[in-house]
Amino acid sequence: MIFALLFVTATLFDGCGEEGKYSFFATLKADLVNPNVGDKVKFDNVITNNGSAYNMNTGIFIAKATGIYYFEFVANGPYHQDDHILHLALKKNTQTIGYVYIDHDRQYWRHGTTSAVVNLNVGDQVYVQVFAAYGQRVLGGSNHVISPASHSQFLGYLI
Ligand SMILES: *[C@@H]1O[C@H](CO)[C@@H](O)[C@H](O)[C@H]1NC(C)=O
Repeated sequence: MIFALLFVTATLFDGCGEEGKYSFFATLKADLVNPNVGDKVKFDNVITNNGSAYNMNTGIFIAKATGIYYFEFVANGPYHQDDHILHLALKKNTQTIGYVYIDHDRQYWRHGTTSAVVNLNVGDQVYVQVFAAYGQRVLGGSNHVISPASHSQFLGYLI
């Protein structure tokens, strides 16, 4: 009885035993055309969102449990004949924890991916944000593939 109580208390406070409870996976519906520096990417095709910690209207995941989390972000962008750059950061609050760029390709689509394992406290925010942008820059959506699969996606979960 006492042990059961201690176990329940421990799981409530350290996030242990909550695996799967906070998991999300979202893809980008439409191409994101010419986003500006500071814009957060709103992955708006939500496939999984257990615990509802990811908000598709803001693109932000807000931790509801303290613990260790895994995040992954995939970006693909089409080629364009003119000079162009698009740099995207995976952010934990104001800290940049991952970085992807899809720049300058004149002939082929460009692919980038990054992932991270981070400790989060309740209220910490994780999201994808544009930090450099120039020219005709596009983050590919589901337009060219079979939706809900997409050229760009964002996912994360409590480990
Ligand atoms: C995740 O969400 C699905 C669909 O709402 C639900 O059936 C499942 O029980 C949830 N799993 C966990 C571990 O919360």
